[in-house]
Amino acid sequence: MKVSIYEPDALPPGARRLSYGLFCWLNRHITVLRAIGALLRHWPIIGGWLGMVARASAVKDVLTRTGSFSNTAHAANMVSGDYLIGMDPGPTYSADRDLVHARLAALDVPNASDNEARSRIQRLVQSGARGFDLIDDYLMWVVFHAMKPLFGSATDAVVSGSPTPSAQVAVDEGLQRQYMLEIRYVAGQLLAGSLATLDLRRRAEACGDALQARIDRVTGPIGAAWGVKSSSADVERNAVGLAWISHPVTVQSGALAVQELLGRPQVYEQLSSRAKSLEDRVWIDAAFRKDVRAHVLELMRFRPIFPLLARDVPRDTELQTGAQQNAKCPGGGKVSLLSIAALFDPSVVPDSGRFCPNRNWGSEDPLRYLMFGYGYRQCPARDHAVEILTSALIGLLTLPRLQLARGEGKAITYDGPLMLSMRMRIT
Ligand code: HEM
Repeated sequence: MKVSIYEPDALPPGARRLSYGLFCWLNRHITVLRAIGALLRHWPIIGGWLGMVARASAVKDVLTRTGSFSNTAHAANMVSGDYLIGMDPGPTYSADRDLVHARLAALDVPNASDNEARSRIQRLVQSGARGFDLIDDYLMWVVFHAMKPLFGSATDAVVSGSPTPSAQVAVDEGLQRQYMLEIRYVAGQLLAGSLATLDLRRRAEACGDALQARIDRVTGPIGAAWGVKSSSADVERNAVGLAWISHPVTVQSGALAVQELLGRPQVYEQLSSRAKSLEDRVWIDAAFRKDVRAHVLELMRFRPIFPLLARDVPRDTELQTGAQQNAKCPGGGKVSLLSIAALFDPSVVPDSGRFCPNRNWGSEDPLRYLMFGYGYRQCPARDHAVEILTSALIGLLTLPRLQLARGEGKAITYDGPLMLSMRMRIT
């Protein structure tokens, strides 16, 4: 296997701009990425030469061989310092993993996400507005309020970046928004990867530094809220990591899911008319919620926020791409995994090209969640995130009729692979 071992900073600026532009374009035109994935699935030997795997069996194989294929591939893009997702197993990884599980156990989803979605929609309806921004006016807040217990009583200290009560009293939506913008660009660097232009990387690093400084001032309140006696370095690493990893990815995933839904008018109509017929029971009808959840997962399959994942290869090894011969992976290289191709692999996903929320995945059910990774290193917040997005979608389905606000300039504005805003029209 010819594995790419390129040094990002060795790329000439023109080549970097071009490859970054191509990467962003592919992210927005996911069907092209799917087509490339289909080719690599069909001729896995080509993937082997390029250091890419596309078949579901090969992607699962790499993701479960955690000793041979390392998460440290993320480390170079973590501009605010080390955190769980970029670590190899060891005592720090285990302690951080326990901490994230404990923090996630404090979440009250779907109650918190339902409440926020409901109240945002009510306010919108009462205001009589005919339009709103899906990210700035809705998703950002639904996710923020659902995630609040991650920092618990220290949330206002984190948002204000100050341990003093007077600063925390001043926390309003403006400050909360400022905080969410800061973490957005830190997470954006993980998405853009080493292809990001140097300007973007610098912006992400500036936001990463600001996030570290903000958390550094409030490790006391955070440690108290978490009830841990860890060193302030441990509290800081986990708090910084949790801040950027939790919120922006969930918001972006929600925006991608809504974009996909609105591109399928029949599916939207069907769900929306069911929501309307349920009236007030829309929030408590278990069968409807279950169906919306299945739709969220299927929408995410078509628009995963991480269509590609990368792994470092610490030592010489081989992998099965699906070709007759194993591909050689020299130590010091990287492997790219086309999760998007695995999610559409017809050999394991029946009728894979069809939008089918109620597909029977049978023994391949874990693959259904591949947009959250796979195996031991899978996202620990998987089920929480799906519940939050389900709440957000139920809220949107209760609105009269939703469309992208085309015709007044672009409805969606992007910043690299990130969606900055998505203007909606209620008709
Ligand atoms: C829709 C929202 C989300 C998506 C699509 C998502 C996706 C992912 C993916 C694909 C991975 C695995 C990366 C890899 O294997 O290389 C991952 C790992 C991780 N995610 Fe999420 N995530 C989401 C929300 C969250 C939230 C809300 C949290 C908050 C705590 C979180 C915390 C983590 C952590 C700590 C890891 C690293 C796990 C490990 O390496 O052991 N994620 N996520």
